[in-house]
Amino acid sequence: MSTLLIRNARIANSDGSLADGDVYCVDHRIEKVAASIDKNATSEIDANGLTLLPGAIDPQVHFREPGNEHKEDLGTGSRAAVRGGVTSFLEMPNTSPSTTNQAALDEKLARAATKCVANYGFFIGATPNNLEDLNTVSPACGIKIFMGSSTGSLLVNEEKDLDRIFGNGNRLIAVHAENEARINARKAEFAGRTDPAAHSEIRDNECARLATELALKLSKKYQRRLHILHLSTREEVAMLRADKPDWVTAEVIPNHLLLNIADYEKQGAFVQMNPPIRQAEDNEALWSGLHDNIIDIIATDHAPHTFEEKKLPYPNTPSGMPGVETSLPLLLTEMKAGRCTLAEVLKWMCYGPAQCYRIPNKGKILEGWDADLALVDLETSRPVLNEEVFTKSGWSAYAGRELTGWPQYTVVGGQVVFSKGKIIEGVLGRPLSYNAN
Ligand code: DOR
Repeated sequence: MSTLLIRNARIANSDGSLADGDVYCVDHRIEKVAASIDKNATSEIDANGLTLLPGAIDPQVHFREPGNEHKEDLGTGSRAAVRGGVTSFLEMPNTSPSTTNQAALDEKLARAATKCVANYGFFIGATPNNLEDLNTVSPACGIKIFMGSSTGSLLVNEEKDLDRIFGNGNRLIAVHAENEARINARKAEFAGRTDPAAHSEIRDNECARLATELALKLSKKYQRRLHILHLSTREEVAMLRADKPDWVTAEVIPNHLLLNIADYEKQGAFVQMNPPIRQAEDNEALWSGLHDNIIDIIATDHAPHTFEEKKLPYPNTPSGMPGVETSLPLLLTEMKAGRCTLAEVLKWMCYGPAQCYRIPNKGKILEGWDADLALVDLETSRPVLNEEVFTKSGWSAYAGRELTGWPQYTVVGGQVVFSKGKIIEGVLGRPLSYNAN
């Protein structure tokens, strides 16, 4: 039996209230939460001055294993996660090979079991012809459909194929909503543009709006559980504001809240991603969608590519930015600046993702729940530094930004896995389970 006692913490309740106290963990569960706990433990942390949050759950990351381990692997990606207070992640199927059947899923699970320091779950990727796999593989957090092409080869863009997937099975469908035909037409129209800002013009707001409209139509036709990944436009927020069935959820990522086309000027293709960064008006619409529960949760779409790859001339640059280790400090910094509340951050990043994907016992600090925790420092600020990031890609689009809320300790399954800037070797995460998905 392993035991961990965290003393003198400012403990966050899920309603955002704070209570000073101790938390005692036995093996991978929280045993007791109280003002004072008098017990001996195998490990102890004095949390004086620190705030104890449930570990964040990042429900959209790309960790590149197998196939592109020069960008990231399940070990480095999960280390970056715990450095940022993320104790569980859901990983996307656009690896190489793509995760489109049980054998590929088993391979990922086997690899994760040997090296992931955070808890892990995986999506099954849709193709036009793997319908049976989509509904039978296990364990999978959901089906991922790339309606528009992005990194990797996964794509289902024909309405007849999408209709067949939406119309058969019950499992959650998560969509990357961009309209492939419009992307291709506009790529041809903008051929010759070599400035990365062209990316946001080619894959314009209408590309996203069209695909989200189709996904919603099919979800309504079959009352099929739909999760819209990385919402990026004011038009999509307006569409959901007008009509969002209660079986539909939506997500936003920090990049679409905090970056916009002005950032191409300094960062060029380093801020190129799909769907692209938009305009300041879209940032605002996404924030208001979050506050109004139109958008339910925050993910990062952590999409690492190397420095060298991102320095290629556009359009040869790959799309995506790393983000798993900065999302919680970024949002806590926004909270400190008055942009949102602690209750909202906990909903968007901790228990909201658990509810969305029906992951039991995670995302709140409650007796009997899993001991996945982040002890963060909300009193001091520290910049993001490329030299310090844990992602193998080695850079961050937020380099130089002063952030508060960096974890001092991260606990996964009752074990301290990250302590004051360093990984504690020997701790491994577990596979996530899902209630009926
Ligand atoms: O920019 C992106 N990069 N968007 C995606 O949908 C995929 C991701 C990646 O895997 O690189």
